[in-house]
Amino acid sequence: MKKYKRNILVTGGAGFIGSHVVRRLVKRYPDYRIVNLDKLTYAGNLENLADIQENDNYFFEKADICDFERVKEIIRSCEIDGIIHLAAESHVDRSIVDPFIFAKTNVLGTLTLLQAARDVWEESADGFAGKLFYHISTDEVYGALRTGKELFTEQTPYSPHSPYSASKASSDHFVRAFRDTYAMPVVISNCSNNYGPFQFPEKLIPLFINNIRHHKPLPVYGRGENVRDWLYVEDHARAIDLIFHEGRPGETYNIGGFNEWRNIDLVKLLVKVTDRLLGNPEGYSDELITYVTDRKGHDLRYAIDSTKLKSELGWEPSLQFEEGMERTARWYLDNQEWLDHVTSGDYLRYYESMYSKR
Ligand code: NAD
Ligand code: DAU
Repeated sequence: MKKYKRNILVTGGAGFIGSHVVRRLVKRYPDYRIVNLDKLTYAGNLENLADIQENDNYFFEKADICDFERVKEIIRSCEIDGIIHLAAESHVDRSIVDPFIFAKTNVLGTLTLLQAARDVWEESADGFAGKLFYHISTDEVYGALRTGKELFTEQTPYSPHSPYSASKASSDHFVRAFRDTYAMPVVISNCSNNYGPFQFPEKLIPLFINNIRHHKPLPVYGRGENVRDWLYVEDHARAIDLIFHEGRPGETYNIGGFNEWRNIDLVKLLVKVTDRLLGNPEGYSDELITYVTDRKGHDLRYAIDSTKLKSELGWEPSLQFEEGMERTARWYLDNQEWLDHVTSGDYLRYYESMYSKR
């Protein structure tokens, strides 16, 4: 069997952020084996990785992070020495409707993965030496900020409000418990809102671009005054690569864009950019903006202080938001087939056609 310099397991690699992480690692590190473990829920789409699926250093395993024996077998047989854990239920609105799957996947799934890695690594000749469990988390664990200048730092106490953020907070606590109890080498990062290509069109930006394209209403929750801190997804993937390689084990790093937008201002910008790209007259889609009942427990403001990541590892966001929005809107409009597959459910059959014959 071919020897690789590193053997990295990425969970949730068929999702939005995971696919950018997998693509980056596969392309940048041809001497690494990159194993993408994904259950392919509604949010997992192998079409996101069509451009790299034939690469020699890329491997896909359809598996559930809650399946202890299967996960353990993959970690052992692929000689995994680093895990980048992104698999999760990620949509706040879904967590309000059905919180149980969030506890199962995000809490029990993370615990299953931690225990499986611990079992295999403790039994290996080098123990935990040269190993790393990197958990990808969210700024939502810190709760909500009031309007003003306050930012979430790594010291901000946890105060999750939605079932989604409660499940992510719980998973973060389990990761730190494994660090403190078993001396497992772990690192955690908590990132703000991502945007960019391959995001499932249930989230604000891709949903609204798709609705503008079809001249459908744009449902703005409440008065549109909630504030989010937006980061281009490739900047997040670059931060994950850096933290995986150079972050200090045991530490937490906040990742954010220093880029706060009120939802309504973001939506107006998005309408303007998308109308221009579609060749519509300015103001054409303004009438689509529709104020609807607010999300239950809707957090008012998130804003991340990523000074630690900048001062320790030199990371900064690279893309201006207006440019990122233009690039993103253009991508969704240019990739109508992808959007059509995702919205029709056709993408769920891609796995069968690509992998079942191998
Ligand atoms: P996503 O919903 O697009 O993708 C999640 C992926 O996990 C999918 O491919 C899905 O099939 C897979 N998955 C779900 N349950 C699984 C299971 N039981 N076993 C194996 N695979 C499973 O999510 P995303 O937006 O890419 O987020 C990825 C990670 O980053 C999550 O942990 C999320 O909490 C975190 N995060 C997201 C954002 C954001 O803005 N999207 C910001 C900060 C942190
Ligand atoms: O902050 C990081 C988090 O960002 C991640 O951990 C989550 O996985 C990710 O989904 C995202 O959560 P949000 O709830 O902030 O993202 P969403 O795109 O769902 O919503 C962004 C804002 O827009 C939020 O204030 C709710 C609002 N919204 C959303 C939708 C889908 C609307 O007004 N209308 C909508 O239809």
